Amino acid sequence: MRKKIIAGNWKMNKTFEEGLALVTEIIGMTKDEYSGSAKVVLIPPFIHVNAVSKMVAGNANIQAGAQNCSNYDSGAYTGEVSAGMIKSCGASYVIIGHSERRQYFNETNSLLASKTDAVLKNGLTCIYCCGETLEEREANHHFDVLKKQVSEGLFHLTAEQFENVVIAYEPVWAIGTGRNATPEQAEEVHVYIRNLIKELYTAEISENIVIQYGGSVKPDNAKELLNQPNIDGALVGGACLKADSFLKII
Ligand code: 13P
Repeated sequence: MRKKIIAGNWKMNKTFEEGLALVTEIIGMTKDEYSGSAKVVLIPPFIHVNAVSKMVAGNANIQAGAQNCSNYDSGAYTGEVSAGMIKSCGASYVIIGHSERRQYFNETNSLLASKTDAVLKNGLTCIYCCGETLEEREANHHFDVLKKQVSEGLFHLTAEQFENVVIAYEPVWAIGTGRNATPEQAEEVHVYIRNLIKELYTAEISENIVIQYGGSVKPDNAKELLNQPNIDGALVGGACLKADSFLKII
């Protein structure tokens, strides 16, 4: 049985103090109100990861993650952060292939495949993002685009490695726009991705993989989206920056 994962991607928001204040609020509110039916992942900027990891360390349902990592282990790569460093800071998850990284930092599927390897090699869970642009959806190319992103980024992995992979379907046209995919649109894509995995791996792996939806998830649309049988959680951007809206989604 898949357990839902609600992850908050802070993107490039929050100073150190603001970030820690947000985490304090989330921890406080989850203690009182949260039944623990979903896993929660807080994904701040790199320089907050260690502090956030320490803050959530005593809480069985909340873990920390990072938004990106290098495909290299170590060395002369100024400005980069390795998966091993992230692990050593106490985080458990790394987002790979967010559309903002694909779009603004030219990350290709083959680079993302090697970043995924780095994440898994270090015993972390990879949240691998995929999603089509508006143009691609309007041209009815979204399934082809998704197949390419998922297969080129992930299908070199062994069945065993797949146990530490989460997929996040984030249509680019729904990110930060206030226009979410309808539950039916998202469910259709999630079923498609699950079937791709079934074709190449096994029915068991495809049944067990967590596929999150991301793109303008808010308190007022989360329930409908998360009630779909193949939507196993959310990757939340804007609405995770305030404790009350993030908690309502959780
Ligand atoms: P928004 O929730 O702000 O649309 O962002 C979604 C996202 O990109 C999460 O990774």
